[in-house]
Amino acid sequence: MLGALLTGAGARTAIDLFTGTTRVAQDWKRRGAEVWAVDTAGYSEVLAACYIATDAATIRLDRLHAALAELNRLPGRPGYVTETFAGQARFFQPHNAARIDAIRDAIEDGWRDHPFHPLLLASLLEAADRVDSTTGVSDAYLKQWAPRSHQRLELRTPSLLEGPDTSYGATRWR
Ligand SMILES: C[S@@+](CC[C@H](N)C(=O)[O-])C[C@H]1O[C@@H](n2cnc3c(N)ncnc32)[C@H](O)[C@@H]1O
Repeated sequence: MLGALLTGAGARTAIDLFTGTTRVAQDWKRRGAEVWAVDTAGYSEVLAACYIATDAATIRLDRLHAALAELNRLPGRPGYVTETFAGQARFFQPHNAARIDAIRDAIEDGWRDHPFHPLLLASLLEAADRVDSTTGVSDAYLKQWAPRSHQRLELRTPSLLEGPDTSYGATRWR
């Protein structure tokens, strides 16, 4: 619907306020628009940096695959996520929470200031989302483990979009 509006209006630039998952901004980018994606939430900034600001044509996919494979091999190392989201609450099974901790730390230690940084973080966000034990609302976890929470957390390659490097990531708009 919003994509059809963009195309129908012949717009070449667009701003997605409250972009959240960036799905609207992604659709506009696929349609060839120069897109601004704006949101106050940190998760959204990561997704926008990955899917909106990054031009897939500039990324060496073989190197990205290798980075993700290395992170996927890391053993768990319990930290903040394990204590908070698998100890005080039950959003993740402890084995997956410890792997989120280990991968998160490795991304900061090895990839800070690298173009892969938001791509690896987005991959981790999406991997965590696939094995959580929630109803889909961030503050509600289930009393019984959701079936998907038993699966091993697995990073996948984000489906990057080609687009001009003038597409922008999330800026905080307060
Ligand atoms: C309904 S959700 C996003 C919907 C989005 N189109 C999607 O498909 O994911 C609303 C978003 O608004 C963001 N938000 C709330 N207040 C904001 C503000 N003052 N400035 C920018 N973003 C804000 C939230 O962080 C949240 O991600």
